Amino acid sequence: MKTAIYPGSFDPVTYGHLDVIKRAAAMFDELTVSVLDNVNKIALFSVTERVNILKEVTKEMPNVKVDSFSGLLIDYAGEKDVHIAIRGLRAVTDFEYELQIAQTNRTLSKGSLDTVFLTTSLEYAYLSSSSVKEIARFHGDVSQCVPDFVAEMIYEKYGHKHR
Ligand code: PNS
Repeated sequence: MKTAIYPGSFDPVTYGHLDVIKRAAAMFDELTVSVLDNVNKIALFSVTERVNILKEVTKEMPNVKVDSFSGLLIDYAGEKDVHIAIRGLRAVTDFEYELQIAQTNRTLSKGSLDTVFLTTSLEYAYLSSSSVKEIARFHGDVSQCVPDFVAEMIYEKYGHKHR
């Protein structure tokens, strides 16, 4: 069975992530989207909230599972016996950071964990979870960036019911 993990912060998931999830799910028998429980990053949504959002947006995708992990990706992938990590590349600016992580993971895992990059569809190339949060925080319209229920959840986090 061909399996892969798509790790990330997903704080929150955007249409850009969803595009990568759909395309990766079509390439593998099973895709696990896994939320990093990162102690070094202050997140807007808890890991449980992020997992639940991801479960909701992938509920029509039978071969997509949602999980969370902490610690090193190579250890988590090793426990699951998965050898491919998926990452999306939006622009050249992502490349240096992603290349470093991919090479670190491949070296640390002694070749066991490789990374497959999917280039983000052009319509989502500008999207990032950080910009979505900033737009929503100041009452901007994020309806083109995230599903409606996610937008409402972000507005609520910032203390306003709607934009
Ligand atoms: O969505 P993000 O925040 O860009 O995702 C980054 C992620 C989760 C892929 C990366 O930070 C990660 O895998 N962290 C786990 C810790 C780890 O394995 N570090 C070693 C590689 S430098």
